[in-house]
Amino acid sequence: VTALPPDRPDVSDSSNPLNPSANSPEQAIVDPNLLEKIAYYKVKSLTAARGELVMPCIPSLKERYLAQINALLVALGQNFSAEEKQALDQIVGKHLEAGFAKSPYARLVFRYSPPSPTMGLTKGLNININAEVPSTEEKYQRWVDTREGALFGTHADTKVIEVVESLLDADPTHLPILDIGAGTGRNTFPLAQMGFPVDAIELAPVFVEQLQETATAESLNINVIQGNVLDPELKLRPAHYSFIFASEVIPHLRHIDEVELLLARMCDCLRSQGLLLFNLFLTDEGYEPTTMIRELAQVAWSFLVTPTELATVMQKLPLEIIANQLVYDYEKQHLPDEAWPPTNWFPSWSRARDLFPGDRQPPVALRWILCRRT
Ligand SMILES: C[S@@+](CC[C@H](N)C(=O)[O-])C[C@H]1O[C@@H](n2cnc3c(N)ncnc32)[C@H](O)[C@@H]1O
Repeated sequence: VTALPPDRPDVSDSSNPLNPSANSPEQAIVDPNLLEKIAYYKVKSLTAARGELVMPCIPSLKERYLAQINALLVALGQNFSAEEKQALDQIVGKHLEAGFAKSPYARLVFRYSPPSPTMGLTKGLNININAEVPSTEEKYQRWVDTREGALFGTHADTKVIEVVESLLDADPTHLPILDIGAGTGRNTFPLAQMGFPVDAIELAPVFVEQLQETATAESLNINVIQGNVLDPELKLRPAHYSFIFASEVIPHLRHIDEVELLLARMCDCLRSQGLLLFNLFLTDEGYEPTTMIRELAQVAWSFLVTPTELATVMQKLPLEIIANQLVYDYEKQHLPDEAWPPTNWFPSWSRARDLFPGDRQPPVALRWILCRRT
């Protein structure tokens, strides 16, 4: 998208000494200040600028982004007209909205370059504005391609293990488990090795392939299901499982309605008295995040839910909450020393310090919520 005319001579600039109104061709130039100005104009014509600004698509930051872009353009000696500014405003707004709606990982890319390779800043700038919109599946493919080691940790969540151990009075082969958003299978495999039949739902094809390969190679009783757990086309077994969990999955959701849909689906698939476990970024009582913070939270893989929102969802479901604990504290206390932290990003992310960087605790953190189907 070219937002603005690519070639715009600098004649509207009153400081431009070549502006016809500032000149009278019959007169020789004797004023040293004017000579200096003309010389600077020559320098500007020999100065070229090329670059890009990449910003997260956060719709509520439109005005701030426009001010930043404008400051950059002014620093580069470009003065846009009111119409051009309006065009910029519309295009930036459109990309921020559309990009964010499609993916929290969308980026607004603002590129500027000379109209042609030999043209300097006196000839204006080519402006190109776009949004790059990677999906969650693409983001995880990139993780696999670029990151070393276990992406989500080597050990199972100790909370997941605590719950399944509480079920072990009975024969595990009769206690099917559903792992939602199984990822690399750090929970799926240990549970299958303990004898539980495990169904693992996973969105990202790259993980589905890995889960399938290991399950087959190790002859484990794991049924890998590729798909989006929110997709109504994805058929799940009603009243089938003894335990259903979703670890680090709700932080990917976009709206409280999706949380409700997920928990309702989990409930439907659970046997009576079955256990349901999930974690989510729950804000502290009394803290009401603004729209900007909520949007940024999604960008930072940390979708926020307030206690009121969670209570409203839970009220509609046949569930009673039996535990509500900080994930950071719980996992740090129970994981073996050599397994802590699960990943280098976990301590910061699980305490919402990816969203609010720093050493002090913000009024939100990842929490384990354990429920029983009533
Ligand atoms: C942060 S990873 C955690 C993986 C695993 N649960 C763990 O704790 O190691 C989140 C996983 O959830 C998957 N996921 C996210 N949204 C999903 C959805 N709507 N349906 C199914 N899987 C989803 C992602 O592809 C990713 O593998």
